[in-house]
Amino acid sequence: MIIQETLTPEEIEEIDHEIALVPYRKAACIEALKIVQHHRGWISDESLQSIADHLEMSVEELDSVATFYNLVFRKPVGRNVILLCDSISCYVMGYEKIYAQIRDRLHISFGETTPDGRFTLLPNACLGTCDHAPALMINNELYRDLTEDRLDEILNGYH
Ligand code: FES
Repeated sequence: MIIQETLTPEEIEEIDHEIALVPYRKAACIEALKIVQHHRGWISDESLQSIADHLEMSVEELDSVATFYNLVFRKPVGRNVILLCDSISCYVMGYEKIYAQIRDRLHISFGETTPDGRFTLLPNACLGTCDHAPALMINNELYRDLTEDRLDEILNGYH
């Protein structure tokens, strides 16, 4: 049996606030996805359906937005999400060493979560700080000019 989730009053209030700022309901879809993800950690199929209903759009249409927008998680993620930039400047400036170090320390590759739920690792296109490559983001925190020494220190700061 599929359990139909509904949005909480708090989620509805926040989404309605965003809807009021845009010309039509659908235009608030990215913000709505972000709001629900903020409350639930990720966007399940049931959450997607509830958001689509509230925005009066089809679930397929909303799913294509969620898939396109790579900061919307359609699978459960860890408490901390590492977005490692794999675009050209970071690639040239040592991305591979950083990626290898993360794999070595956390024993996860892209798309995986540590068994204790501490970290999820995802690739990300340019984080907009190419002159300070290599770079990664953990949750909303940007780390630039990464070195192997600094990376250990940074990872130790997340539990
Ligand atoms: S290429 Fe990595 S921040 Fe731009």
